[in-house]
Amino acid sequence: MIILAIESSCDETAVAITKDGELLANVISSQVDVHKKYGGVMPEVASRLHAENIGVCLKEALERANLSFEDVDYFAVTEGPGLVGCLHVGVTAAKTLSLIYDKPLIPVHHLAGHIYACEYVGELKFPLLAVVVSGGNTELVYMKKHLSYKIVGETKDDAVGECYDKVARVLGLPYPGGLPIDQRARVGKPTYKLPIPHREKGTYDFSYSGLKTAVINLVHNLEQKDEEVNVNDMCASFQEVAIKMVVDRTLAAARDLGVKQIVLAGGVSANSYLRERVVEELKNFSIEVLIPPLWCTTDNAAMIAKVAEHLIKEGVRGELSLSPDPNLRLAE
Ligand code: KG4
Repeated sequence: MIILAIESSCDETAVAITKDGELLANVISSQVDVHKKYGGVMPEVASRLHAENIGVCLKEALERANLSFEDVDYFAVTEGPGLVGCLHVGVTAAKTLSLIYDKPLIPVHHLAGHIYACEYVGELKFPLLAVVVSGGNTELVYMKKHLSYKIVGETKDDAVGECYDKVARVLGLPYPGGLPIDQRARVGKPTYKLPIPHREKGTYDFSYSGLKTAVINLVHNLEQKDEEVNVNDMCASFQEVAIKMVVDRTLAAARDLGVKQIVLAGGVSANSYLRERVVEELKNFSIEVLIPPLWCTTDNAAMIAKVAEHLIKEGVRGELSLSPDPNLRLAE
């Protein structure tokens, strides 16, 4: 079974090819250097770059896999959530290929992709709790079996990655801010006092806007008083609170729901402190943790192909009238 998968939901144009689950090609064209100038993803620019890059990525993936379009059995594509103009490029490409080569179209949820990326390193064991943390999402997803999703906790405002990016900006660090903050936090000390958002009883929800505003206000106050901001210490202080919130909610939900496994997913799952904390906290529990390899934490199409394998087995097929949904929810 040969699957060609396309991902274009944000600022990475990606094409992957798998054969019977084995990854033959994983091409990713990142636009991050372009968006850096604006301090965030410019949707219009992103869509245009996807349109420019998609053909080249498709060609390169086929060359790396040493295959041609005729060999492909299924065309999988991210249908949402994401930026609508960006999603349209991938969906239109996949529909066109499905039509020309008369092969089924498989629509895939982007966040399911992030969760299933972990199948490249281990087996999913149910029931599990997926911790989906990225630039656009902060969700705890309970899965009792394959392709069954129940959101048990989510952010009430900003996503954790978005918060990292905004805090990095006010500290004069490059976009995206996750990695530079993570690196500086490793050499800083959590000396600044920041508010810790408490968990509302009976929920596993998150809130990041208060933490973001607190850092921005603190930095501005120090600047007004002509006091130097110790960037490394500010990063360490911010990261401690930001990650504590993820770990606290995750552990509470995992214990209450009696899961066998915790799966980290999404861009923020690359965070070294998060990875360390989760493993440390779970030492005394019989809950396994599955951590994706770093190459799998950013957007890619290999993860889309993994979900497609399961959808194909379940007989899921997309229509040629498929339209991307920028707000697509993970449904049970
Ligand atoms: O999943 P992803 O590639 O795409 C979006 O959904 O946007 O996630 C990107 C996000 C960015 O906000 C970035 O700052 C964050 O992941 N990120 C990190 C780290 N590496 C990337 N956040 C914290 N620590 C990191 N090491």
